[in-house]
Order: sequence, then structure tokens, then C-alpha cells
Amino acid sequence: MASIEEAVRSKAGGLQELARRHLWMHFTRLSAYESHDVPIIVRGEGCYVYDEHGKRYIDGLSALFCVNIGHGRADIAQAGAEQAKELGFFTNWSYAHPPAIELAARIASLAPGDLNRVFFTSGGSEAVESALKLARQYFKLTGKPNKHKVVAREVAYHGTSLGALSATGITDLRQPFEPLTPGGLHVPNTNTYRLPHGMSEAELAETIAEKIEFEGPDTVAAVILEPVQNAGGCFPPPEGYFQRVREICDEYDVLLISDEVICAWGRLGEWFGAYRYDYLPDMITTAKGLTSAYAPMGGVIASDRLAEPFLDGKTSFTHGFTFAGHPMSAAIASANLDAFEREGILDNVRTNEPEFRAMLESLRDIPIVGDVRGAGYFQAIELVKDQETKESFDDSESETLLRGFLSGELYRRGLICRADDRGDPVIQLSPPLIAGPTQFQEIEAVLRPVLEEASERMHVHKPGTAAPGRQAQAGERPRR
Ligand SMILES: Cc1ncc(COP(=O)(O)O)c(C=O)c1O
Repeated sequence: MASIEEAVRSKAGGLQELARRHLWMHFTRLSAYESHDVPIIVRGEGCYVYDEHGKRYIDGLSALFCVNIGHGRADIAQAGAEQAKELGFFTNWSYAHPPAIELAARIASLAPGDLNRVFFTSGGSEAVESALKLARQYFKLTGKPNKHKVVAREVAYHGTSLGALSATGITDLRQPFEPLTPGGLHVPNTNTYRLPHGMSEAELAETIAEKIEFEGPDTVAAVILEPVQNAGGCFPPPEGYFQRVREICDEYDVLLISDEVICAWGRLGEWFGAYRYDYLPDMITTAKGLTSAYAPMGGVIASDRLAEPFLDGKTSFTHGFTFAGHPMSAAIASANLDAFEREGILDNVRTNEPEFRAMLESLRDIPIVGDVRGAGYFQAIELVKDQETKESFDDSESETLLRGFLSGELYRRGLICRADDRGDPVIQLSPPLIAGPTQFQEIEAVLRPVLEEASERMHVHKPGTAAPGRQAQAGERPRR
């Protein structure tokens, strides 16, 4: 290996070597890059990004569900630069500054109901962590000190810090770090393609009431749910689900946290996912699209009722982060929301969602496509061995399919999306909210041949033409 100095000097070739040697990529098998190039993205423009060789990719994932306004916006970058010149940084610990004040007021005006108080963070895990701590302290202040547990859903992702991780319902992400913060409880998610045995859609919300009853209502502080659950592949709620969850939370005096790290800021065609499904949470956690990822920022938006006990005497929310509410991030978020309003970004999603969905639905003729689901610009395709029985792939098949073929091939053909098996194998698409029919066609032009080839490679055939073997029951969960 060249010395670091040599590699830095010979930048182009050197970046690969430097990345391999020094950059610890998140949730990444570093060994994968011993035999493959690290994908190095150097530039972005609209719905597209370019790698170090100048090759163009359609960004079907908005980087990581976050570059909502699209790449390369000089006006948004400029807003950050102007703010940095005026006041590069000051903190929200005991101080305020205009960008944070103005942004908090604007978020409050966009948020539902009496969610009027904004506690900024630097990202989504910090937002979830803050919401869970706020719930605990709220109940200590209001005479219910034992309320500390949180109910979340199986396979849901709520972040990686130890408190947020106790809400995250993905076993593989939890096990390396146990014991976690106590109190994380899990109930079935809204995967209506594979409902738990014998359960109807209408009964899903009841599992939350049962969990609260089982644990003891005086120990449960909060329920945290995404409007559309990301991990597992974009599970929308069944009709009436959130209305029933709201009733349950009211009945047991449990706070409802709507985790909108992904689902806010137009991803579902609304400012917040709670509007799309018509419910009023006690808190919203958010991040990502708030700044369209031009700067790191997140926050908890809390109701007046929750803030109330903190307004008195010597009380304060004894929690904070140095960079939360950073003036540059706040200025960028405001410029981002200006652009949203000026350019009708929510309308673009509402107008084009049916065409986006129709394109994905049209892939159902490919044998490996089992389900298509999601909402807004947040959609997933579940991959199966048999469309009729819904039989899924086992762990080793899934490894062959996703890491052995799909992820690399989609990228090689110029499409960035997510091939994921934290639940059953899925491909997720979440393009910038400025995308339209041209981008949908480009996505299809890559997806169709790649999924057809995946069907061939995995020996998946149309129902009735499959090779004989063990037949799963309809909707049976795979053994994994
Ligand atoms: C619903 C949800 N909550 C929390 C997080 C954690 O956010 P971050 O990665 O910014 O810490 C994510 C990240 O994807 C998320 O999707």
C-alpha cells in the first residue's frame, strides 16, 4: 500500500485506497471492498449523482431517504454559507438565535394540532432518544414515575443510540449491544402481506393494548410508530389503525410518538405522515428531509400538554446536544422549506404518486415480485420464491440474491436503491420528491431486466411452473 501522503497526493486512484484503509463506513461489511471498489459519489444534480469516474446514477433512494429536494441546489447551499458568515455557531443551551427561533415557529405552524414546541437535535437517533427521555421525565414530573417503557413494532428501525435501539425491533442490530436500555417492548407490525397467524388487520392495533395490559399501564410511557414502517419494506397502516392506537394511548395515558424521520417533509405527499393517516400524536420525531440533508438536523415536536410541566419554577428538560439547532442547519432547513413551498414539492408527490406506483405494480408479471406496497415516494417490492404461496427465501438464498447479485447489479446499471433483508427480502425506492415520469421510466428500465435475471438465477418461475419441492402455506413466514 502507498503511504497516506502518496495516496492523498494521487487523489483519484488514492481515494479507493484511503477509503479502504481509513473510512469506517456505517452498517457496512468492510470486507466487501477487498474485492470491489468502494462506491465513491462525488457530485449530485437533481435526481442524479455521479461517481469518481463521472458515471451517472439515478438516486432512487434520495441518498438515504433524505435528499428530498434533490441534489446540487446552490440556493440551499448559499443559505448555509450566508448564515455561517453572519453567525457560524451558537448553542441552544440557554441561548437562542434567529435561525432556530424562526425555524421552530415555522415547524410549529406546519405541525398538526398543538404540537408547538420544537426541541432540536442533530439527527434522527438523537430525536428518538430525546423523545423517549422527554416521555420519562414528563411522567416523573406529573406523578407517574414508574412509566418508562416504550412499545414499538417488530422489525421497525428507530435508530442506534442505546435508548433508541431499545425501541428498534431488529434482532441483529440489537444483539451485539445487549443489554440495552431496559423497557423496549415489541408488537406485530402492519405487514398485511404476512399477517401473524390467525390475526386480522383490524386486530393489529389491539396487540398494543394487550402489551400495555400485560406490562402494567403504570409502567408504560410511550408507543412509538412510523406512519409507514420503513424496515421490512414500507408497511402502510391498515384502515383505522392509527385511530384505534390513539384511543388506546388515551385510555392508558401513554404518549403516542410518531417517528417521522423518513415520513415527514413530503415523503408521503404531506408535511407530516400523521396528516396522511389523520391522527394526532403527542410528539413527532423527525430529521432527514427537514434540511433535505444539506446539513445534519433533527428534532422532537412536542405538544403543549407535554411542555406544560417544564414551564414551571426550577424545572427543565435536563437533556441537550451541543450542535442541536445549529444556525447553519436551521438556515438551510428554512431555505429548504421555502423551496418546498415555492416549487409545490408536496403537490408533485401527490400528482405523480399514482404513476410511480403503477410503474412498480407493472413489475408484478416478473415471477420474483411478490408484493408492491408503500405510500407517496416511499415504496417497496417484496421478493418471493413463489407468488402464489408467498414462500420467501431462507437466509443463505437471501444472501445470494441480495448481496450476491441484486445490490451490485442495480448499482452497476446505474440505479441507487435499497436491497434489504432486515425482514423478508425487499427492494425499496424513495426518490427525490422532484422526480416524475422520466425518472420512473429510468428506474423501470433498470429494475425490470435485473428482476427478470434475478428470477432466472434463483429459479423462480410463474405459479404452476415451479419445480416440485416443499410448498409453503400462503403467507407463511420464512424460517429465519
Ligand atoms: C424512523 C427512523 N427513526 C430513526 C432513525 C435514525 O436516524 P439517524 O440515522 O439520523 O440517527 C431513522 C434512520 O433511518 C429512521 O428511519
